[in-house]
Amino acid sequence: MPKVRVAIIGLGSWGECHLEAFRSLPQVEVVAICDAREELVRQLGEAYSIPDVYTNADELLNRDDVDLVSVVTYEDSHYDPTMKALQSGKHVFVEKPVATNFRESTAMWQTAKEQGRLLVPGHVLRFDPQYAEAHHMLQSGRLGKPVSIYLRRARPRALFETYQRTHTVFELTVNDLDIAIWYAGSEVKSVKAYGRSVMGADVPDLVWACLEFANGALAVIENHWLTPNEANIMMADSVEVVAEQGIIGFEVQHAGLQTWSGQGRDTSALHIHLNRNGRVSGALKEELGYLCDCILSGEDPVQTSIGDAIQGIKVAEAIIESIRTGREIKL
Ligand SMILES: NC(=O)c1ccc[n+]([C@@H]2O[C@H](COP(=O)([O-])OP(=O)(O)OC[C@H]3O[C@@H](n4cnc5c(N)ncnc54)[C@H](O)[C@@H]3O)[C@@H](O)[C@H]2O)c1
Repeated sequence: MPKVRVAIIGLGSWGECHLEAFRSLPQVEVVAICDAREELVRQLGEAYSIPDVYTNADELLNRDDVDLVSVVTYEDSHYDPTMKALQSGKHVFVEKPVATNFRESTAMWQTAKEQGRLLVPGHVLRFDPQYAEAHHMLQSGRLGKPVSIYLRRARPRALFETYQRTHTVFELTVNDLDIAIWYAGSEVKSVKAYGRSVMGADVPDLVWACLEFANGALAVIENHWLTPNEANIMMADSVEVVAEQGIIGFEVQHAGLQTWSGQGRDTSALHIHLNRNGRVSGALKEELGYLCDCILSGEDPVQTSIGDAIQGIKVAEAIIESIRTGREIKL
């Protein structure tokens, strides 16, 4: 069976999930991993029996026996490894946000087109059955056109200690922007947004964004990092799409497994990535497996869209500008 030869750059908390997911796919061989943290990458290389480990991405990218590079570095450091991987003829899967500015994201796309390589954005929610089924239902036309999209993403305060390294719009909101653009099937025309820094950090921990699409649809996105840690609710996310002839939606926080014990409540997020005794499941495995199938068959990965992801980056910049100026921003 032909295999896709994969290398992963960035083996932090999400990069290790990539490693587990890729290793569980029969059509994939993970040939190399790279992280700037030497001890971490050596330990993971041993634990997962990866033949080659690197601390320098350039050395890895000099290899000509890699088909696909997965870039899972910090949010603002996707550009260098992605550009070098594309320029050396490799397909690239780049985690969200594709970049933290529009200029870098368009340069990456331009290079992918020039090189004839795939550049696929890591918007895993398109492979989450509930988000994907809502899109499928909207596409079927049974509910008519979407007119109002409400998306909410809320995370515990403790996570903000790490992720305030990036603007909330690039950490949380880009996920919802990709979904809103996918569901609306149209371009964003204008943005009015509000941000608050409740815990006093340099970047807002609470963001509201109102979007108007060229086809008339409206969207409201609510994101925050203000769920009390003690509530033990990892994801308090919601979706509601009002269409001309019906409404579709779900609440992630009520859909998962709950455990109430002497230690309090635990709400595990089982649908994105789960590894139980080496058996991996979830939307991330679906997403990476789909891409590798497309590479092997030569089909277009139409469930993903680098164009939508890059439009999301443009809208993210407009949201930040609207929060800063208090004005509506036309795109
Ligand atoms: N789609 C999702 O659901 C999801 C979930 C979590 C994180 N992410 C995204 O994944 C990316 C990584 O997030 P994380 O939480 O794993 O971060 P992290 O801080 O845990 O890990 C990042 C790793 O990248 C390494 N690194 C950074 N620059 C490097 C370079 N130039 N060369 C080699 N290694 C380098 C760091 O040493 C670190 O180990 C971010 O873009 C984040 O937004 C996506």
